[in-house]
Amino acid sequence: MLLLNRMNLTNMFDLNTYLEEKCRTINDALESLPWNTDNPPGRLIEAMTYSLMAGGKRIRPVLCLAAAEAVGCGDCRPFISAACAIEAIHTYSLIHDDLPAMDNDMLRRGKPTCHVRFDEATAILAGDGLLTLAFDLLSSEGPLASVAADKRLYVIQIISSAAGCKGMVAGQAIDITSEGQKLTLDELKTLHDLKTGALIEAAVVSGAVLGGGKYSQISALKQYGRCIGLAFQVTDDILNVEGDPDLMGKSTGTDEKNNKSTFPSLMGIQASKNFAAELILNAQEAISDFDVRALPLREIAKYIIERNR
Ligand code: IPE
Ligand code: IPE
Ligand code: MG
Ligand code: MG
Repeated sequence: MLLLNRMNLTNMFDLNTYLEEKCRTINDALESLPWNTDNPPGRLIEAMTYSLMAGGKRIRPVLCLAAAEAVGCGDCRPFISAACAIEAIHTYSLIHDDLPAMDNDMLRRGKPTCHVRFDEATAILAGDGLLTLAFDLLSSEGPLASVAADKRLYVIQIISSAAGCKGMVAGQAIDITSEGQKLTLDELKTLHDLKTGALIEAAVVSGAVLGGGKYSQISALKQYGRCIGLAFQVTDDILNVEGDPDLMGKSTGTDEKNNKSTFPSLMGIQASKNFAAELILNAQEAISDFDVRALPLREIAKYIIERNR
């Protein structure tokens, strides 16, 4: 009976509908953030919202909410601001990643990059503004205040550690300093784990913590997040070679132009795809004990390597 229910639900579940619904919730929440347009210069807020609302896939905030659901939380509404905080950090990382001193990209989310649309100084400040907004959201009064203070503090620790010099910022530093060098496979895995995997893993783990997951569930989801996080960046590398820039809203061929070490450059396209697929199997395996409420996470894992944007 249980198996039958699971099969029925699996057949009925439509990932696109799920993603659309969750994206709508996240976008509505981002749009209704209390932007104080009186005090800070309007141009700063304009640049922050330009990049934030330019239409990303919102995969990190969706993962945060889906992880909370997977551990049995029925009402994720109080956690939307944590999901928004993670998206704000991600958007800041993209604005800075595109700067001339970093990847020097002109197109992001289908629009001119923040420094092209505004100017470099404004783009740097917009990134700074979004990064710090995240911690404002995580610590402010609002729906998250219903979460016990120790749990909130733990989530702030998880996210700040993943975003900073033990995680994403470290990865970005290695990425920049290793341009033109041929990294070993282990070095490349570390780079990708840090620059992209860490925040994705943190999104999953924070959702699990906020949703009231047990220790064993949180550990399993940490492993899931780690695997999909690395697979996400391997797929980003693959799409940089063979993706369609119109669909992706960003330029392709840039990794080769910037002499980046990537999975395709190290092992070729097919072996990179096989490696990403193996990571997704590992991610699925990590959460095999979860019930049907983890179905969105199982489907998102597949989407991460099948996506074309
Ligand atoms: C792109 O991330 C940068 C990486 C860390 C690989 P996404 O592919 O999630 O970008 P958006 O948010 O959809 O624009
Ligand atoms: C982006 O990595 C990682 C972060 C922004 C932290 P990439 O530089 O490979 O991603 P894209 O291809 O520009 O989106
Ligand atoms: Mg980069
Ligand atoms: Mg880049």
